[in-house]
Amino acid sequence: MDKKQGPQLIQDTRGGNLNLDDLVDNPNLEGFHIAAILGTVYGLMTDDDCSAFRSSVVKRTGYEGFLRSPSDMGSSVGSMLREKRDGNEWTGRSVADLVHKYVANQITNEEMAAVLAMIMVKGMATSEIVSLTRAMTDSGDRLDFSELTEQGYVAVDKHSTGGISDGVSLVLAPLVAAAYPQIIVPMMSGRGLGHTGGTLDKLESIPGFRVDLSEDEIRAAMLETRVAIFAPMPSIVPADGKMYALRDLTNCVSDSGLIVGSILSKKIAEGTKVLVMDTKTGNGAFKSKFEDAKLFAQLMCNVGRGNGLNVNGFITDMNQPLGMYAGNKLEVLEALEYLRGLHQDSDFMKVVYTLAEKMVELAGFAEENTRVRLHETITSGAAYDTFLKMVRQQHGDLASVRKLARLLHPTSILTLAQAGEYERINQVLSPEDKLYFTEIRAERDGMVSGFQLTSIGEEIRALGAGRYKQGDSVNPYVGLITAARLGQPVRKGELIAVVVNDGKKGSPEKIREYIHVSENYDLGTKPRLIKELVKPTAG
Ligand code: URA
Repeated sequence: MDKKQGPQLIQDTRGGNLNLDDLVDNPNLEGFHIAAILGTVYGLMTDDDCSAFRSSVVKRTGYEGFLRSPSDMGSSVGSMLREKRDGNEWTGRSVADLVHKYVANQITNEEMAAVLAMIMVKGMATSEIVSLTRAMTDSGDRLDFSELTEQGYVAVDKHSTGGISDGVSLVLAPLVAAAYPQIIVPMMSGRGLGHTGGTLDKLESIPGFRVDLSEDEIRAAMLETRVAIFAPMPSIVPADGKMYALRDLTNCVSDSGLIVGSILSKKIAEGTKVLVMDTKTGNGAFKSKFEDAKLFAQLMCNVGRGNGLNVNGFITDMNQPLGMYAGNKLEVLEALEYLRGLHQDSDFMKVVYTLAEKMVELAGFAEENTRVRLHETITSGAAYDTFLKMVRQQHGDLASVRKLARLLHPTSILTLAQAGEYERINQVLSPEDKLYFTEIRAERDGMVSGFQLTSIGEEIRALGAGRYKQGDSVNPYVGLITAARLGQPVRKGELIAVVVNDGKKGSPEKIREYIHVSENYDLGTKPRLIKELVKPTAG
């Protein structure tokens, strides 16, 4: 039988059900896995129990690395483990040292794995996360826009914890840049994570679009169009690249403090002064419970402020796809529809306008009619033009984007789907590839009563829209078109959704099971879209 993998064994240890026999002759175990197991146990057990456990692990594995003996606890990392185990807070100095030495390879992966595992058990106080964020930020370069900020320009950005059909950045970034000439938007973004999509993957569905911009290219973009969306470069927060890879290998990804440090250090290093957070909650969100989302948003705000950011956050709903389409190119097409002025009353645009207004306010440019100005920036076509300029500036094929808009004008993908014009959608998405369109229709008269959104996201990933490991390629064309929203009345046979697939990967039919229509749906239970505004309470 195959032996268990390291991350699973670390999880077993955390849950108190590690079987020591699983460690014997296990070729999947690296030293950092064993250090993480020992670090976990050290956080959970008394000294005596811990030493007995350590001896058993060492005996079964022949392990000779960090934490194999009590003397390791006297090292600098060992004393940090002891401090945390005993309920004391780490000083800013010790956290800075840890990060600095780890990036300089003076602290090993095994030592860091034990620290991460301890954090997973014991957590970190806000002051420790402030220090971690600062140390991570200081591990590399910071983008410098002083040439512009000295002239009164303000750098703004947003971050979303991720969801299904959350392509908000694609509309928001060009919108605020186009509406306010004193605003710059250096937006460092990510790739798809788990069941959620990533802004960079979406933009890369535009032929030629480059997200790997150099610092000079970003500075040039800020002077020219005042907006760019790009990937973290190796010179920015190297600590995050190294720590994230180890967190992934040791099952230490989900701690809120580590997540906040990872996100905020990159945002600070990209040079933004203003950050608006969109923390999603609901069955498609990483923080499915409202209380957890609120705690996370509060932590983001407090740690951000502790590092000099002007940050506020909204908690918004993720119990149904935010927009109409999910999938990489489909979400670019959706952004083009919004930027052309369609669907302005949609939930998607409500989130865009709410975040944009707050970004403008925190940047110091609020006016009585901020929303009117933002709306006019869409209807005048100025935001659309800025999007096109951003595409050209990042080497995307402008002709292909213009062609998409032309092929769709004056209709939308949704209207085409409702009319059954799948040939035309295939032409728009990818004339060279044969795509398949699996319809999901209401099986009864009633109201749309629920989306099992994480399962839907996982299925979209399985169709090829997302990855399972770093370096996997994504299929830009597959995804989901949803034609109905929660609480909407539907008749038996009415189109609810269309799964766009390549006929090979995934199980498009499965999504049918994840969208529910009931005879009775209490509209009073429909989740509110924008639930709460969160501001820093500390510092
Ligand atoms: N996004 C990040 O950048 N880092 C995390 O740890 C989680 C989400």
